[in-house]
Amino acid sequence: MMFWRDVSIKHKLTLILMLTSSLTVLVACLAFYGLVVNHFQKVYKRDMNNLALIVGSNCKAALMFDVPEDAGVVLATLKGRKSVRQVILYDKQGHVFASYKASALKGTSVKEICSFSRKIILDDGTYVGRIVIEDDMRDMARGRRQILLILLLVGVGSLFSAFWLSAILRNVVSKPLLSLTEMVKRIAAGDFQFKKCSSMRGRDEMGVLCSAFVEMNKRLRDSHERLEEYNRTLEGRVAARTEELQNAMDDLRKSQAQLVQSEKMAALGQLVAGVAHDINNNISFIAGALPNIKRMTNELVVEMAENHKASPAWQMHLDIVSLLANAEEGVRRTKKIVQDLNAFSRSSHGQLVPVDIHAELNNIINLLRYECRDKAEIIRDFDPDLPVVYCQRDHMGQAYMNILLNAIQAIEKRGTIRLKTWPAGGKAYISFQDNGSGIEPEALEYIFDPFFSTKPVGQGTGLGLSITYNIVKNHHGKIEVHSAPGRGTEIVIILPVEPCKKADEEDGGVGGME
Ligand SMILES: Nc1ncnc2c1ncn2[C@@H]1O[C@H](COP(=O)(O)OP(=O)(O)OP(=O)(O)O)[C@@H](O)[C@H]1O
Ligand SMILES: [Mg+2]
Repeated sequence: MMFWRDVSIKHKLTLILMLTSSLTVLVACLAFYGLVVNHFQKVYKRDMNNLALIVGSNCKAALMFDVPEDAGVVLATLKGRKSVRQVILYDKQGHVFASYKASALKGTSVKEICSFSRKIILDDGTYVGRIVIEDDMRDMARGRRQILLILLLVGVGSLFSAFWLSAILRNVVSKPLLSLTEMVKRIAAGDFQFKKCSSMRGRDEMGVLCSAFVEMNKRLRDSHERLEEYNRTLEGRVAARTEELQNAMDDLRKSQAQLVQSEKMAALGQLVAGVAHDINNNISFIAGALPNIKRMTNELVVEMAENHKASPAWQMHLDIVSLLANAEEGVRRTKKIVQDLNAFSRSSHGQLVPVDIHAELNNIINLLRYECRDKAEIIRDFDPDLPVVYCQRDHMGQAYMNILLNAIQAIEKRGTIRLKTWPAGGKAYISFQDNGSGIEPEALEYIFDPFFSTKPVGQGTGLGLSITYNIVKNHHGKIEVHSAPGRGTEIVIILPVEPCKKADEEDGGVGGME
């Protein structure tokens, strides 16, 4: 059974057809042979019986009148019939009355080749004798052999036809099946490229199967191509999505950092405001006392100049004057620090007014002319199209001042500071570019932090840029810094030209300190 399962359909078809047709032909031949032989035997028997009857009745008179010579003549007439071997006529007593004998056959047994026909002879119902005819059946046997041969030829011919038919059937059934199998194998190996089934000829079951198969392959090919396309672009899409997520994460981190920074700034602002208030109170005692001390010292000097010029106390007054000047300078600086601390911590509520930025910048440059004197040349590159900007005049003025002071301080011997303005996209751009020392990359991210300074102790509080940052931020603007060590720094303030309505509605000013 296992062997039968492994045999190809082609061979199965051939085998089934051959077996079926052989069996059919065999049965048909056997049946035909049986029928024909039977028929011939019956006819032969009838023929022989008739012959015996005719010869017997011809010999009746000879028997009745006891003339054996006449009977011999009648029997001799059977000579013309070659198959008759021997005829014996018996009288009513059972004695041989007359006989005829043909020449005996060589090498054959009589029994095998002869048939005997016996008939009794009656005359009006009275038994007069009997006749026995012995007939040679070799002709009959020859005829049977001929029929057998013909049937054999028919059988072989049928087998050939069956084989030929099976070849045709193989073409009709097994060939398309084989080509379908080939297609299935190719699909299984991932090859969907064929577009036609070679055995798709007619509209019979095979044709329909092939068409359905080709259609199925087409759909498979389409979905395979779609899948491949999807796979090809998947990586890109995953990368894009990852980038989006990364950006979102970065934004989130920035917002978180800003939130933490805002909290810190708020706490620091409160602390700074308290400290500045206390320093201010205490310094006002010294500041209030210093003019009086100075006045009184001057009066004392006049007094001493008249009466005690030779006394050593006269010499001391010069030291006192210089110490007083130092104390005054200390008070001035402390006041400046307190001012900065207040600016850092104060609320930014205030009225927005339309401001001519160029006029403001010119004012600041004028104020700083002493600092610039023989250090920095200021180049103005103002765009006349810059519109007026809504802002808090004093606060923004302080921001420009802080940036310009930094630029002047960054120039060691002699340099230039370029001030450039231009409008773009509803915003005003104000750039301060110097060719001073520049900022080290590692310091760049800290310059807006409060109290970050690279200047020697006593020369910088590190509040200038942090105040500036808060002011610009409260105006809903932005600050950009571009710097290279040894080549200079550019700081650009970007302000919205129109006041930001939403923020104004919310807090009635530019917004609180973050
Ligand atoms: N134009 C510039 N060129 C080089 N470095 C600069 C420039 N502007 C700022 N910096 C750097 O940024 C730091 C912080 O500046 P910021 O104005 O906040 O403080 P400061 O100038 O040191 O002190 P303060 O302004 O309070 O007197 C400076 O110490 C300096 O190192
Ligand atoms: Mg500064």
